[in-house]
Amino acid sequence: MSEALLRRLAQTLLAREAASLRRQLTARESSDARINLADNDYLGLARDPAVIEGAAAAAREWGASSSASPLVTGYTALHARLESELAGWHGYPHALVMNSGYAANAAVLGGLPKKGDVVLADRLVHASMIEGILASGARLRRFAHNDLDALELMLDEERPPGGAVFVVTESVYSMDGDGPDLPRLAALRRRKDFCWVLDEAHATGWYGATGSGLQEDSGVRAAADIVVGTLGKGLGSQGAYVLSRAPEVREALINFTGGFVYSTHLAPPCVGAALAALGRVRALADERGALRELSRSWRDGLVEAGFSVPAGDSPVIPLVFGDAATTLRHAEALRAAGFIVSAIRPPTVPEGTARIRISLRRGLRSEHLAAFVAALGKTRA
Ligand SMILES: Cc1ncc(COP(=O)(O)O)c(C=O)c1O
Repeated sequence: MSEALLRRLAQTLLAREAASLRRQLTARESSDARINLADNDYLGLARDPAVIEGAAAAAREWGASSSASPLVTGYTALHARLESELAGWHGYPHALVMNSGYAANAAVLGGLPKKGDVVLADRLVHASMIEGILASGARLRRFAHNDLDALELMLDEERPPGGAVFVVTESVYSMDGDGPDLPRLAALRRRKDFCWVLDEAHATGWYGATGSGLQEDSGVRAAADIVVGTLGKGLGSQGAYVLSRAPEVREALINFTGGFVYSTHLAPPCVGAALAALGRVRALADERGALRELSRSWRDGLVEAGFSVPAGDSPVIPLVFGDAATTLRHAEALRAAGFIVSAIRPPTVPEGTARIRISLRRGLRSEHLAAFVAALGKTRA
């Protein structure tokens, strides 16, 4: 190993450590009974018996691995069935299953925009989208978070000759739990010629009469040109999917995405789990109102205890401390009090906005909120 390289790695890691920003892996034990407020299993489906059985049945029938690229033999009848169900659920004619949300976003935004195009992205879109856009060769402009006036101005300014304009947003932002005015975006899309890419990763399962997400809930089902959804959050499985109205999008991804063409396809147990989860999500229709109420009650409880959190009803609540060391101290205290939480620090979030990202889940009770607030209060004192 090169000495110069090792010195450089050691120095950058030390600098991160000194700023309380060093990331570390901690192996979780299956016996850890603390309340998990850090993962994205909002509906608790990863441990749902029907979802586990879906994974097990798929493993028995198809094996533990798809064992090949989807273009060789990795694409099975099970994958095709999942695509058809996802497309119908969201109201799109075309769906493509992919290995992860990160890979799906990087593929869509790295592969569809080209040099000469312009991508207008919300300032807080996920890292996977930014990675794609930067690789695409298109020009990137970022508008202030959820500021659709700013987006509209940019859309008026941008008419790339012979090029396309893309607009990139999430429906529930992963670290803030808020989102744009989807009906307004949908109306804008009807008036103007652009390709709207919408990431519904954190809305799936939580919003909508059938749980398909915030487009459904906002009365603008299938308004975005392209939707990226994940199987590894509200659906309790793993993997992702891309939905589109135009068949060319799916065809282009199949033909030009290296991570799709040259990678072993999503494992059958993940596909089987996702199919079972779709059934469970639909069956939980009557609980979705209570989930949103749960979110409002946690926000109210935190505000009453003197913490500042935004209003809303999504599963993600940002508890911003600002400073990384303070955030770490609160996270430590919460862990000791029986909660699994994660301190989210720059560069994952903007400088000066280190936070605990509270991720709600079905089954939380008022005594959990009381214990959470008490632990926070003790640390602040
Ligand atoms: C908004 C958003 N999109 C995509 C992803 C990536 O999805 P996956 O975990 O399936 O790679 C994440 C991951 O946290 C996310 O927050």
